[in-house]
Amino acid sequence: MANHHHHDDHSLAEILDLDGEVLHSYLSDVTAWVRDLTADRPPHRLLDLGSGTGTGTFALLERFGDAEAIALDQSEPMLRHLEGRARERGLASRVRTLQADLDTGWPPVGEVDLVWASASLHHLAEPGRVLAEAHAALRPGGLLVAAETAGFPRFLPQEHAGLEERCHAILDRRRAEALPHFGDDWGPRLASAGFTVEAERVFDVRLTHPLPASAGRYAERSLRRMRHGLDGTLDAASLAALDALLDGIGERDDLEVRTTRTVWAARR
Ligand SMILES: C[S@@+](CC[C@H](N)C(=O)[O-])C[C@H]1O[C@@H](n2cnc3c(N)ncnc32)[C@H](O)[C@@H]1O
Repeated sequence: MANHHHHDDHSLAEILDLDGEVLHSYLSDVTAWVRDLTADRPPHRLLDLGSGTGTGTFALLERFGDAEAIALDQSEPMLRHLEGRARERGLASRVRTLQADLDTGWPPVGEVDLVWASASLHHLAEPGRVLAEAHAALRPGGLLVAAETAGFPRFLPQEHAGLEERCHAILDRRRAEALPHFGDDWGPRLASAGFTVEAERVFDVRLTHPLPASAGRYAERSLRRMRHGLDGTLDAASLAALDALLDGIGERDDLEVRTTRTVWAARR
């Protein structure tokens, strides 16, 4: 069991890193937008809630050259991985990691200027309480930026899109049971937590050939992870078709990366 979890953390960490690399232009668009929203007073103390491997932390530290970040996550392996990446990038002195489970309470982080929460709110048991605590931790005028997606990226070209959709339909149903807040409308929740929602932006990402260098690996790792969860649920013919496709998938030149991310900017 421990081994299984270790492997799982490792493969998830790799996918999160690849997500940040392949969707670099999306992340850069979001942080440029955040810069515009905070132009009157650039944020100095940043808090990344459910930081994972630090994709958002690093994008923000690059955008805000004077800022420092607290990367908060419940997973020690994710945070160790993040620390390694921070050292590689020469950013170690500007990042502090904090292991905490947000479902058990709000850790002492002090006052912050910006809270970032990417693909993490839907994991929480009581997101409304955590948002209220994030509101209290922000300085007046501070900004919370929340990003969520409607589903994992799609990679396969048109001729195989039906198969990919069938796989996702199974995983979506399962996820709806495990993560009831996935796909929530976060605008009203942010308002209930005391925020003024300034904007909600939909980023429709559709990358086609030529893709960023690591896109093939991202597709391969993501589809294999998806495949892993489909034994005994997807029909045998579709499973066989998927297995055949997965062989050498990363080298295909007709892959795409399609995903929709919704980002809310909310002010205290
Ligand atoms: C899908 S990952 C997103 C990581 C990163 N924000 C990104 O966009 O790449 C969700 C992260 O939230 C963390 N997380 C989930 N529940 C949490 C909780 N109750 N307290 C703290 N972190 C949590 C997980 O450990 C994981 O690293």
